[in-house]
Amino acid sequence: MTSTDPNWWRDAVVYQIYPRSFADANNDGTGDVEGMISRLDYLQDLGVTAVWVSPWYPSPMADGGYDVADYCDIDSRFGTLAEADAFVAEAHARGIRVLIDLVPNHSSDAHPAFRAALASAPGSPERAMFHFRDGRGPDGDEPPNNWGSLFGGPAWERVIGPDGPEQWYLHMFAPEQPDWDWANPAVVALFDDVIRFWFDRGVDGLRVDVADGLAKQPGYHDTPIDPATGLGIATFYPGHPWWNQPELDTIQRHWRAIADGYADRHLGERIFVCEANTKPLSALMRFVDPGRMHTTFNFDMLWCEWEAGSLRAMIDRNLIAHAAVGAPTTWVLGNHDSTRVVTRYGKPETGKPFTLDGVTPEWQHRFAEYFFVQPTDNALGRRRARAAALLEFALPGTAYIYQGEELGLPEVEDLPDAVLDDPAFFRTGGRVRGRDGCRVPLPWSGTEQPYGFGADAAPWLPQPPEWAGLSAAAQDGEPDSTLSLYRRALAIRATHPALGDGTLAWGDTYPGTVLYFTREPGFGFLANLSGDAVTLPSGAEVLVASGPLAGDVVPPDTAVWLSLPA
Ligand code: NOJ
Repeated sequence: MTSTDPNWWRDAVVYQIYPRSFADANNDGTGDVEGMISRLDYLQDLGVTAVWVSPWYPSPMADGGYDVADYCDIDSRFGTLAEADAFVAEAHARGIRVLIDLVPNHSSDAHPAFRAALASAPGSPERAMFHFRDGRGPDGDEPPNNWGSLFGGPAWERVIGPDGPEQWYLHMFAPEQPDWDWANPAVVALFDDVIRFWFDRGVDGLRVDVADGLAKQPGYHDTPIDPATGLGIATFYPGHPWWNQPELDTIQRHWRAIADGYADRHLGERIFVCEANTKPLSALMRFVDPGRMHTTFNFDMLWCEWEAGSLRAMIDRNLIAHAAVGAPTTWVLGNHDSTRVVTRYGKPETGKPFTLDGVTPEWQHRFAEYFFVQPTDNALGRRRARAAALLEFALPGTAYIYQGEELGLPEVEDLPDAVLDDPAFFRTGGRVRGRDGCRVPLPWSGTEQPYGFGADAAPWLPQPPEWAGLSAAAQDGEPDSTLSLYRRALAIRATHPALGDGTLAWGDTYPGTVLYFTREPGFGFLANLSGDAVTLPSGAEVLVASGPLAGDVVPPDTAVWLSLPA
């Protein structure tokens, strides 16, 4: 059963389920809620304490479900609300908490409120739910300002009404994702209902999509232009008119009060985790100030190069900043928007981005050059990714696992153009391939596609032939497999008194190319990021190692957990 510990979220191990690609129980090539239920035993064996489910709502899937047509139902491709309830209950029965995605920045153009807005006149209350504006120029033929979309192209789409072209509406992402106007109290009220709807159903937390983008500066002033495209810069910079506006404080405190209202129910605290790329770190920390959100994703780890000095600085920076506000740090190695960690660490340069930043104008050329020219060494990348997993789970705070990381899956870098589905691919004329390569359905068993994802239907994205050896069944019981490593490490983490929330102390007995820290009582972590072998501290006993050791010698790109002599 789920514990009632109110602090469960301070050291949770959260597994991200991307429902389309997790498990396909009805054999239609797309994952579903029944499939998720069928794999809960696997997740329990893995040792995770929570799951985060990416959007499962009714959606035209213009952006993989982040275009929500109904926030209080389940897409029929994925199942039913009753099945979602069963999933929550079955997860709780196994001691696993459930977080789901809240997508408050934008809806789908199929959402009834947006349909009503289109059918209503300019200036109507229906249009006031979104950002409708007249265009510039004599006939209003030009967008209201120069803002660019994060998926490429302008951030404004013109409405074509029965009498021809009329107003424009704002979409930070695809045109099928109109932005809600959070200055409108009716939008606040609509989402209050959504949040309560899911908390009432027993959901333990919400991952807030684009948490730093909800409020827009009312002046809608132009942003500096990217000369390559002639559009305004869409990514964060201090003073940007839509990122990290002061109004977020009010919105977040309001949501926190709703969540706190559930604290006395038997499930313990309901929580939020923000998806926000706000910089600098001191600005992001305002999101987790007392009375605001519980946690925010720490994307620093995701983009940190595999280099001891950079990692240590990144860890310190985050631990210090979070401790100052009393929030736990989250640690993230991957998600459905990022090149899989095995592949990132298998490139000659290991700290390159592939988030939504990667698809904005100012990044397009650098991104394309990087990802499709640099070769990948998957064996090296996997060795490092395994060491990074031990680092992640040894650090104080909450750890996030993106589905398939526990199998050591690489990015699928050679998906044919014809199967690509990411709106970024289409909106950049194919210059950016997008995020499909990390969303390929999981291999569960068998020697050929669909590898137990479904019974025999072709999965919505094709799986590579090399994945036979990476399936969960192939790795089960293999002592050296990545799956076994994750299970072993998470089992130790669950009971070791030094792990989870708390602090660490760096040891300086090793050169700067080695990460070595201790946690009380009696725990040591060592990762060898040098090119040379390193010897374990004397008297230390190995609890788990990310790769083979030669006696007390730790080879390069290998990490160990240690039990230290008293
Ligand atoms: C962040 C999500 O993780 C990503 O998948 C999505 O495309 C954007 N937000 C827009 O919702």
